[in-house]
Amino acid sequence: MHRICVIPGDGIGPEVMEAALTVLKAMELDMEYYPALAGNACFQKLGTTIPSQTVDQAQQAHATLFGAVTTVPGQNSAILTLRKKLGLYANLRPVKSYPGIDAIYPDLDFLIVRENTEGLYAGWEEYTPVGAQALRVVTRKASQRICEFAFNQALENGFKRVTAVHKANILKKTDGIFRDTFYQVAENYPELEAEDLYVDVTARLLVKNPQHFQVLVTTNLFGDILSDEGAGLVGGLGMVPSANIGDSNALFEPVHGSAPDIAGQGVANPTAMLLSVVMMLHHLKEEKAANKLEKALLIVLKERRFLTPDLGGNSSTLRMAREVQDNLDAL
Ligand code: NAI
Ligand code: MG
Repeated sequence: MHRICVIPGDGIGPEVMEAALTVLKAMELDMEYYPALAGNACFQKLGTTIPSQTVDQAQQAHATLFGAVTTVPGQNSAILTLRKKLGLYANLRPVKSYPGIDAIYPDLDFLIVRENTEGLYAGWEEYTPVGAQALRVVTRKASQRICEFAFNQALENGFKRVTAVHKANILKKTDGIFRDTFYQVAENYPELEAEDLYVDVTARLLVKNPQHFQVLVTTNLFGDILSDEGAGLVGGLGMVPSANIGDSNALFEPVHGSAPDIAGQGVANPTAMLLSVVMMLHHLKEEKAANKLEKALLIVLKERRFLTPDLGGNSSTLRMAREVQDNLDAL
């Protein structure tokens, strides 16, 4: 039996979570769901964006599903706290184009592996007499761990090339360590091609020639930015899922946020959340269920049945999810 911690969050978080749970529960897997609070609504109620009970629930679960939260300046980021407390050092962000969806490129399939614990998001930011400053943290240990993770992901998913993305010409020490560690790790994977690129060059190539990329491995901030760029190439934020993986915990969430501009209307695209569920099912070794759910979703996308407005349709979140569920039954 799998214990799943469920954190719907704010805005469209609960809307896409409801859709995903409807479909997931219809699959009748051996799973138990434990709801937990986090985010801004939680703060209004309990005075904290991430109660310790939520962290405990997530720690005890085999996997956590996270919707999205609204981050208010001055409040602790619930997702950053969870990533830190659960030791979720690897953030996997697959970017895939799906038939039927109006993507800039119809043939993309690459994976961004983002270091999730340090870089410029280490949380060391302070005011100074003249402004403010932030510290960029890069350790050999975290660099090695994330690079090994990226090469292993390449092997597991049949990719042939791993690209390290950095800015070592300017950030000579921090990104120098990241790049050098990458090539040390690469020596253990002679069957895979290893290359490195500057982040600005990568940003350009992602627009001009994204088919070049297979697995990209990079530090926290660059990974955050490039994965939004990736989302833009394949139909928008409603289309891209992510996994946050650690040694003993894992959390799955769409790349998008709480989307206050469309929250409450019931029209958020559930695809990113559903694909995050697919990633969770793979992680739990429920391969059959993972493949079945992805297939059911792909039929809905390809045949453009009951799509949400961001994909050019006029259906609601739940209507689209119900269509996925109906396809499951037919498979
Ligand atoms: P966002 O991802 O929430 O929205 C950006 C744009 O994409 C909006 O126009 C939105 O309507 C659209 N969009 C996003 N997801 C969609 C979906 N599933 N279906 C259709 N359209 C979708 O990013 P934004 O506006 O920068 O941030 C809003 C809030 O979310 C902020 O408070 C931010 O801090 C938070 N946030 C939370 C994240 C998380 O919980 N992991 C990640 C990113 C942002
Ligand atoms: Mg982001």
